[in-house]
Amino acid sequence: MSTTANMTEQVAIRTVVLASADVGLRQRLASRLKGLRWQVREAGGGAEAMAHLETLRPEAILLDTWLPDLEVTEFAGQILQMYPMLELLRVDGSEAGGASRSPRRNELLLALREAQCSPADTAAWAAAPGTIPPTVRMTEVSRTLAGSSVGTSREAAITGGSAREQLDRRDVLAGGLGSGLSEMWMLPEMIGASAPMQELARLIRMVAPRSTTVLIEGETGTGKEVVARALHRLSMRASRPFVVLNCAAIPEALLEAELFGHTRGAFTGAVQSRTGRIEAADGGTLFLDEIGEMPLALQAKMLRFLESGELQRVGDNDTVRVDVRVIAATHQPLEKRASEGSFRLDLYHRLAVFPVEVPPLRERLEDLPLLAESFLEQMGQVAPRKRLAPEALARLGEYHWPGNVRELMHVLERATILCAARPEITPEEIRLRRATRL
Ligand SMILES: Nc1ncnc2c1ncn2[C@@H]1O[C@H](COP(=O)(O)OP(=O)(O)OP(=O)(O)O)[C@@H](O)[C@H]1O
Ligand SMILES: [Mg+2]
Repeated sequence: MSTTANMTEQVAIRTVVLASADVGLRQRLASRLKGLRWQVREAGGGAEAMAHLETLRPEAILLDTWLPDLEVTEFAGQILQMYPMLELLRVDGSEAGGASRSPRRNELLLALREAQCSPADTAAWAAAPGTIPPTVRMTEVSRTLAGSSVGTSREAAITGGSAREQLDRRDVLAGGLGSGLSEMWMLPEMIGASAPMQELARLIRMVAPRSTTVLIEGETGTGKEVVARALHRLSMRASRPFVVLNCAAIPEALLEAELFGHTRGAFTGAVQSRTGRIEAADGGTLFLDEIGEMPLALQAKMLRFLESGELQRVGDNDTVRVDVRVIAATHQPLEKRASEGSFRLDLYHRLAVFPVEVPPLRERLEDLPLLAESFLEQMGQVAPRKRLAPEALARLGEYHWPGNVRELMHVLERATILCAARPEITPEEIRLRRATRL
């Protein structure tokens, strides 16, 4: 037996356990690690990870910052005590296990670094071999939007991008995680790698596991519902219902019964009793969209529910206790409305325990290529796949996007139709609602 084998006889070399509740994150990391010839075993929680450690004796474990069943820091300490040879890394790059135990630590760091692209790109780009990788696209658009010649920017970006990637790789291999690791926070459903989107993803990951009320603010079409669904998916409630109630879509007279439920005969037309949306969300998440549209009288009742966790169905004296996490969204300046008296200030404070703001698209134009490519990829699944000419991309960057990401989807859908059989979308097919420029 070789010396290495003697030294590592207890350890299955090149075997790693990935412990994270986030399937998307696991998939990205697993594909990078397999590319580096690692055997990967995935675990959705701490207990599962522990079982793999016992049976496999892997060389390393990559731990997410949160696990649904165990406190991560405690778990990390415990497994290092049990398996002193184990290389333990946290997926956010924070120090977890102290000294390096594996000679292949740098490979793990490289996989972490490479998995930092937003997963939607990874899927989209993997499905479209030969296209430019996301890192390059970002470089390209920053240059395009910065006003450099569009004709040459593509070429420059391709070489610049690969060089940048090589630099990043060297950076990691030299032992550091580089500056881009915060992109690890990115969420599969939320495309965008700009600084405000990274910050948003970081906040989402931090608050998701808790039952804290979250108020999502942002202009129309920015992705508030995307954020709400991500919060639910990353919580311990993920397997329980996610119930949506759009306060603007239901007539005022019916909203209370819709939320709280009602007994038979509680009001004219209530021919049978009905469970409300709050009860339907028991154990899960209730997403109150357009909360600014909730009538003042109902706001008082909502506040009582939020404070007590109890509700009464309309027409019923009995109290029902439910375990619901409330997420609310608004495109209105709710704090201002509360200070003017058209929204209850106490409810505003209760909802805004953890406010998050989804940035408008015009403030993160560097996300345009990622978003556009992802939408074109989606559209390409049902019709011939179109490409965006650099000039067309530049045109998108000159617009102020009042309808944000939703509007971008519509513009691209229209462009796809307009360019008929041609594979490339040119500026002529980019029809914007108004000729407004930034
Ligand atoms: N970051 C993103 N990545 C991918 N898709 C997105 C993103 N943001 C928004 N979308 C898509 O844009 C559309 C609008 O998003 P969403 O419904 O979440 O916006 P909203 O802020 O709730 O809008 P509104 O205020 O009009 O209700 C959806 O189809 C959504 O999937
Ligand atoms: Mg919405």
